[in-house]
Amino acid sequence: MKEVKVAILGLGNRGKNYGGHLAAQQGVKIVAICDKYQAKIDKVKGSWGVPDDMCFTDEDKFFGLGKVADTMVIATQDKDHYGHAMKALALGYNLMIEKPLSPNIEECLEMEEYARKQGCKILVCHVLRYAHYYKKIKEIIDSGILGKIILINHDEDVAYWHFCHSYVRGNWRREEETSPLLLAKCCHDMDLMYWYAGSKCKSVSSYGSLNFFKEENAPEGATATCFDCPHKDTCNFEATYQYVGRKKKPFGWEKKKYKWKPYAFCISNEKEDILNALKNDERGKLWSRCVFKCDNNVVDCQTVNMEMENGVKVMLNVNAFNEKDHRHTEIHGTNGFLIADDSGSVLTLQLFGKKPKKIIVNLIPVIKGHFGGDQGVIKATIDLVRGEIDPNGQYTWIKDTIESHRIVAAAEKSRLNGGIKVDMSEIPDIKK
Ligand SMILES: NC(=O)c1ccc[n+]([C@@H]2O[C@H](COP(=O)([O-])OP(=O)(O)OC[C@H]3O[C@@H](n4cnc5c(N)ncnc54)[C@H](O)[C@@H]3O)[C@@H](O)[C@H]2O)c1
Repeated sequence: MKEVKVAILGLGNRGKNYGGHLAAQQGVKIVAICDKYQAKIDKVKGSWGVPDDMCFTDEDKFFGLGKVADTMVIATQDKDHYGHAMKALALGYNLMIEKPLSPNIEECLEMEEYARKQGCKILVCHVLRYAHYYKKIKEIIDSGILGKIILINHDEDVAYWHFCHSYVRGNWRREEETSPLLLAKCCHDMDLMYWYAGSKCKSVSSYGSLNFFKEENAPEGATATCFDCPHKDTCNFEATYQYVGRKKKPFGWEKKKYKWKPYAFCISNEKEDILNALKNDERGKLWSRCVFKCDNNVVDCQTVNMEMENGVKVMLNVNAFNEKDHRHTEIHGTNGFLIADDSGSVLTLQLFGKKPKKIIVNLIPVIKGHFGGDQGVIKATIDLVRGEIDPNGQYTWIKDTIESHRIVAAAEKSRLNGGIKVDMSEIPDIKK
C-alpha cells in the first residue's frame, strides 16, 4: 500500500478535524503542519506524530519547505484560500481545500485554471456529497422513480445558537472580511441543488437582509457584553449560557444544552478556561458581546429562486431562527415527491396514488462529521494519491464546485439590486 504524505495548513476546527481523521488512517503520514498559533500546533503535533522541525507558525517557512507531501489540506479562512492554494499549486501539490474556494469568483476561476496548467487536482470539501444521506437522495432522483423533476424546495435552517456563534459574534459576521452568508453557509446547499437538478443554472433572483441581530432590537438596558447585563439570566443568546451553561440557583450549573465549538476562541473545553477566554482574551471577548451590539452585517434570512438550464425550478431559503441545525428538502417530480429532513435518517417517498414509503438511510458505518461526509472527502483525497479514484464515482472536483459559487455570485448580485433577475451569462465561467 503506497504511503500517503499530507501537509496541513490551518489547524482550526476544520483542519484539526481532518488531521485527526487522516492520522487515524493506515498508511497515511502527516508530515508538516502550519498554524499561526503555536497552541493549536501543540494540541495536535504529538498525537499526529509530527516532529517539531516540521511544525510552523510562519506560512513562508512552511511553503519554503518545497513539496514535501503528496497532497496539502488547506483549512484556513475563506479569504485566504486563494493565496494559499496558488502557493501550493506552484509547488505542484494536489489539494484538499475547504469551501468556499474564495468569495471572489474570478479567484475561483484562476485557481481552477492554474491547477489545470500545473497538472494538479483540487478536491473541494463539499462534504455533503460524500454523505450516505445525500447520496441516497441523488440515487433516488437518478433512478427516475420520481419521473421528471419539476421543483426542488430546500430550506437550510440554522440554529439560533450556531448562527450567533458564527455569523453574529464570530468569524463569518462581516461580509467584507469573509463571505456573504449564502456562500459561507449555503455553498454546500447550492452545490446539492446543482447536483440534484443535474443541470447548470440559467437565472437567479434573491432577497435577503439582516433583520434581527442589530442594535434597535436590543432589550432595554442591555449592556455591550453579557457578563453584567440585566437580561443575562433570561436572554436566549447570552454568551456563558451558550458555551458553559447557566447558573440556576440553588441547583448549580444547568447541564450545558449545546456543546458548541468554543474552539474558535479557546482550545480548552474546561469551563473555567472558556469563561476566562470570554472575559479576558482579546479574541475570546468577541464571543461575549451582546448579539444586538456586534459589528455583524451578514444577512440572517435569505431566499433564492433559480431556474436551471434543464427547466427545473429551485427555491432555497436560509434563516437563523431555528432550535436545531437541519436541512429540509422536498423534490417534486411528475410521478411523485420525496421529502428529506436530515434531522433524522428517514426519507419519505410518495408516489402518486400509492402509500408513502419510508426509506431508512443506513447511517451505521458513519462516524460524526457531516453524516460521514468528512471521512468521504478524506478517502477521496487518499484514493487520488494512490491512483484508486473510481472512474464512475462522484467527487467534488473544483470545476463542479465553481458552479455553486457562480450561483451564489448571481444571487448576491440580485439581492444587492433589489431582487432583480440575474442571468447566469453575467457571471464569469470556467474558460474551456
Ligand atoms: N466543509 C464544511 O462543512 C465547513 C464547515 C465549517 C467551516 N468550513 C470552512 O473551513 C475553513 C476553516 O474553518 P474553521 O472553522 O476551521 O476556521 P478557524 O478559524 O477555526 O481555522 C482557521 C485556522 O487557520 C489558521 N490560519 C489563518 N491564517 C493562517 C496563516 N496565514 N498561516 C497559518 N495558519 C493560519 C488560524 O489560526 C486558524 O487556526 C473556512 O474557510 C470555513 O468557511 C467548512
